[in-house]
Amino acid sequence: MRIKTFEEYQVAYQQSVDDPEGYWAEVGQQFQWRKPWKKVLSGDFAEATIKWYEGGVLNITENALDRHLADKGDQPAIIWEPNDPDDQSVTITYRVLYDRVCRFANVLKKHGVKKGDRICIYLPMVPELTIAVLACARIGAVHSVVFGGFSAKSIADRINDAECTMVITSDGSFRGQKVIPMKETVDNALDLCKTVKNVIVMTRTRTPVSMLKGRDLWWEEEEKSVDSVCPAEPMDAEDTLFILYTSGSTGKPKGVVHTIAGYMVFATYTFANVFQYEPGEIHFCTADIGWITGHSYIVYGPLCYGATSLIFEGIPTYPDAGRFWQIVAKHKVNILYTAPTAIRSLMSFGLSFVKDNDLSSLTKLGSVGEPINEEAWQWFKQNIGKGNCPLVDTWWQTETGGIMISSLAGVTPEKPTYATLPLPGIQPVLVDEKGEIIEGNGVSGNLCIKFPWPGIIRTTYGDHERCKQTYFSTYPGMYFTGDGCLRDEDGNYRITGRVDDVMNVSGHRIGTAEVENAINMHLGVVESAVVGYPHEIKGQGIYAYIITENKPDDPEMMRKDIAATVSRLIGPIAKPDKIQFVSGLPKTRSGKIMRRILRKVAEGEMDSLGDISTLLDPAVVEDIKAGAL
Ligand code: PRX
Repeated sequence: MRIKTFEEYQVAYQQSVDDPEGYWAEVGQQFQWRKPWKKVLSGDFAEATIKWYEGGVLNITENALDRHLADKGDQPAIIWEPNDPDDQSVTITYRVLYDRVCRFANVLKKHGVKKGDRICIYLPMVPELTIAVLACARIGAVHSVVFGGFSAKSIADRINDAECTMVITSDGSFRGQKVIPMKETVDNALDLCKTVKNVIVMTRTRTPVSMLKGRDLWWEEEEKSVDSVCPAEPMDAEDTLFILYTSGSTGKPKGVVHTIAGYMVFATYTFANVFQYEPGEIHFCTADIGWITGHSYIVYGPLCYGATSLIFEGIPTYPDAGRFWQIVAKHKVNILYTAPTAIRSLMSFGLSFVKDNDLSSLTKLGSVGEPINEEAWQWFKQNIGKGNCPLVDTWWQTETGGIMISSLAGVTPEKPTYATLPLPGIQPVLVDEKGEIIEGNGVSGNLCIKFPWPGIIRTTYGDHERCKQTYFSTYPGMYFTGDGCLRDEDGNYRITGRVDDVMNVSGHRIGTAEVENAINMHLGVVESAVVGYPHEIKGQGIYAYIITENKPDDPEMMRKDIAATVSRLIGPIAKPDKIQFVSGLPKTRSGKIMRRILRKVAEGEMDSLGDISTLLDPAVVEDIKAGAL
C-alpha cells in the first residue's frame, strides 16, 4: 500500500493510468473481505453510476478493529485529550475500542436499529463519537454526523432529509470556557422532526437536560444493559456507509453519500501514503469528526491502517494559544494535520506560545481545507516543523472521500502554496470555459477529474438528479470540482479557490444562497446578496449586501439582529462579518445579480469593476461603492 520513493511514485502513477482497475485491485487486496469482489469498476460519469468492488462483501469495522486485535490489541487506537488540560486524557486500545463499539452496536440493535437505518450523530469531540460512528457501521446502519456548531434548524433539516430514526447526542459540550447545551439544541430540532423514535444521551457536562419518557435514553445505562458480543453485519461493497451534508451553490445543503468499500480503500490508501505513517506514530488531526476530514483522517483512515489517532475535544486557543503545541509535547505527537485558518490564527499570537514546548516528536505536518498562503506555510514549516518535517498541502473535498492532490510526505517534492501532484489513481485536468481540456504546463482553468477513483461521491441523498447536475453535467465525461486551479511549469497544481457561489470561511464550506435565505427570513429584509472576501485569519469572510423595507434607525443593532437570525437558522459559523445596507443590487436586465461587482467592492477594488453597462440601473453601483465597509 505504501509508496516510498519518488521513482516508485512515478511508476505507480503510470500504472494507475495505464491500468486503473489493476491498480485499485492490488490496493483492495490489502483489506479483509468476507467475499471477494466480482468487478473492480463499473458505471459511468454521465449517469453518475460509478461502482467499485461490486459483488464484494465486507464490514468496514472488521478492517478498522477486528483484524488488528491479534497483533495490535494492546496498542492505543485513540488518545483523547479533553478540553481542560487539567482533566485526565484517555487512551483506548484497539481491544477496548472493539469491545465498546460492539457493546454500543448492541444498544442500537436493542432499540430496533437495523441495516440501512439512518442515525444522526450530534456529539462533541469525545471518544464516544468514534464509537457511535463505528457502532453504526458494525450493524450496517448509515451514520449522518452533524457538526456540533450547527443550529437546531440545521440539525432538523438534516434529520428530515435522511429520515433518521435515532439521534445520538450528549447533555452538553465543553468548548474553551463555554458549556454548550447539545441536548437542548436536539430537543428544539426534534420539535420539527417526525421520524426520530429514540435519542441516546451521553453524559459529558452534567448540564441539566429534559429526558422524555419512551424516547430518551442514557448512553451509560444502556451500555451496561448489553453484552459485548456483536458479530459484524456482512455488507455489500456498494452499501451506504454514511451521509455527510455539505453546502452547494444553490438551495439547501446536500447529503453526500459514500459507500463502504471504495471509501474504505481510498481513505486508508491516502492516509498511509500522504502521511507516510510509520507503526507506532501518533497522528493528530485537528478537524472535527463532523466534517469529512475527521471522518477520513481521525476515524476511518487511521483505524483501518492500525494507527493511533488523537482526538482533541477543545479549541486551539484554550486555555491559551499554545494548546496545540502543548498537546504535541504532552503526547509526543508525530503527525500534525491542521487547517490554514488555525495556523494563521495561532501565528498572530506570536512565538512565545510555541517556544517552551518540545516539538521534536513531530515528523510530518499537513494542511487542509483552503488555500494556504506562503507566510502561513513558512511559519508552520519553520517554527513548528523546525524546518525538517515534510509539510503536505492536501487538496480534496467532502465529495472525493479522501486526499486527491498532495505531496507524499518526504517522498515527492513539496512547493509552498501548491498542493503539488495528484496521488496515483487520480487524473486531474484543467478545463476552459468552453469545456476544452487545457493541455501543457503553465496554465490555469477549472479543475476536473477525468477518471473515477474509489472514494468518489455516489449520490446526493434522496436526489440523484442533483448529484448528476452538480458534478457531472457542467463538463460531460468529467467530475467537476467547483475549484479554480493553476498548473505550473513542473506540473504542480495550485488550487486558487471556488469558482461557484460557495464560500470557504475558516475552512468551512458555506453556500452564499444558504446565508441569503437566512438573512431574507429576518423581519424587514427585502432582499440580500452575499459574497466572500479575503479575510486575514478566516481565509474568506462573509460580506452581505442587504435591502431593507425602511432605512434602519439603528444600523448597528439591525446588524446584530440579522446576525442572530443567521446564527439561529444555520449556526454561528455562517454569521456575516460585514453587513452593508443598500438601496438596490446590481442586476442585469434579466434580473440576475452581478456578483462579480459585489465581490470587487467587498475586496475594496472599486476601480476594476469592469463593464457595468449591461446593468438595469448602473447608478446603484455608485451607491454601493459609496457605502462600502
Ligand atoms: O475549495 C476547495 C477547498 O475546500 C473545498 C472542499 O471543502 P470541503 O468539502 O468542506 O472539504 C474540506 C476538507 C477536505 C474545495 O473545493 N480546499 C480543500 N483543501 C484545499 C482547498 N483549497 C486549497 N487547498 C487545499 N489544500
